[in-house]
Amino acid sequence: MHVLIAGQGYMGRALVDALLARGIAVSVWNRTVERCFAAVSAGANLAMTIEDGAQSCDVMITCLSDSAAVRASLATLQTGRILQGKALVQLSQTTVEEAEVLAEWAAANGVGYLDGSIMGLPSDIRGEGCMIVYSGQKAEFERQRSILSALGGNPRHVGEAAGAASAFDKAFFSAYYTHLAGFFHGAAICKAAGVPLETYFDLMTTVWNWQGPDAAFADMIRTGDFTAKEATLDVHAYAFAQVSRLCRQKGIDARLPDAVAAAMADAIERGLGDQEIAALVETFQNSGR
Ligand SMILES: NC(=O)c1ccc[n+]([C@@H]2O[C@H](COP(=O)([O-])OP(=O)(O)OC[C@H]3O[C@@H](n4cnc5c(N)ncnc54)[C@H](OP(=O)(O)O)[C@@H]3O)[C@@H](O)[C@H]2O)c1
Repeated sequence: MHVLIAGQGYMGRALVDALLARGIAVSVWNRTVERCFAAVSAGANLAMTIEDGAQSCDVMITCLSDSAAVRASLATLQTGRILQGKALVQLSQTTVEEAEVLAEWAAANGVGYLDGSIMGLPSDIRGEGCMIVYSGQKAEFERQRSILSALGGNPRHVGEAAGAASAFDKAFFSAYYTHLAGFFHGAAICKAAGVPLETYFDLMTTVWNWQGPDAAFADMIRTGDFTAKEATLDVHAYAFAQVSRLCRQKGIDARLPDAVAAAMADAIERGLGDQEIAALVETFQNSGR
C-alpha cells in the first residue's frame, strides 16, 4: 500500500509521521517543494508533481487549505483517470456543497472517495483519542480502515452523503470554538481586572477537567508567545466562518458563531493571522480601548 499526501502544511506533516510509524509507504507533494523536505528526512518519498505522486500511489490524501486548493491541484493532473480504481481521502476543510462537487469529480473518474474532517490538532494525530469523521461510500471507508486508523485512533463513518462529515464538523466547531473564545475572553478579563490568571487556569484545566488544548493555550497566554506550532488563526477562522454560513442555510440562529467569527476577523485585521488562535486574548483585551 502506497499513500500520497498532497499538502505539507502543519497537518499534512503530522499525517506523514502517523503513516510512517505504521510502516506504510508514503510520498509527499506540496505546491512549495521546500515544505516537503522535513517529511523526506523522516522517510517519505518526494513527488515533484502531483501527477507523479498520483501515478505511483494506491491512495491519495489531500490536506490543503480549502477545497479551492484541492480543485486547483487536481486540475493540474493530465487526467483524473490516473486515479481510476484508487481512493481519494479528502481531509481539507470544505463546505457540504464543495464536498459533493469533489465526490462527483471522483465518481466521474472512477475514484473511490471519502471526505474527512479532523477533530483535533496535528499533535493529536495518531493518538487513540483523535477522532476523524468520514463521509462517502461506507465500503470505501472499510477498505481503507487500516490507513484511516493509522491517522487517528478513532475513525468514524457519519454518512454516505459526501457532505455529511463537513456538516458534522460545523457542529463540533460551534461547540469547540465558542468554548475556546469564552476561555480566551475570561483570560482577558483576569488580566484586565488584575485577578490571578493561575487560579482561572486551575479552574478551567483542572477542576473542570479540560486539560487538553486549554493547558497548551494557557501556556501561550502566560508567556505572551503565540507563535504558530499547530495551526494558524487564518486556518481556524476559515473553518469557523463556515459555521455561520451553514446556520444561515439551515435557518439556525447564527448570532453566537457570528460573534466569535467577528473576533477572529478583528484579530486577523490586527495582523495576528499567522499566530496561534490563543492570540485572540490580545484582541479581546485591546479592542475595547
Ligand atoms: N492545523 C490544524 O490544527 C488542523 C486541524 C484540523 C483540520 N485541519 C485542516 O487541514 C487543512 C490543512 O491545514 P494546515 O494547518 O496544514 O494548513 P497550512 O499549514 O496553512 O497549510 C496549507 C497547505 O495548503 C497548501 N495550499 C494552499 N493553497 C494552495 C493552492 N492554491 N494550491 C495548492 N496548494 C495550496 C499549502 O501549500 P504551500 O505550502 O505551497 O503554501 C499548504 O500545503 C485545512 O483544510 C485545515 O482546515 C487543520
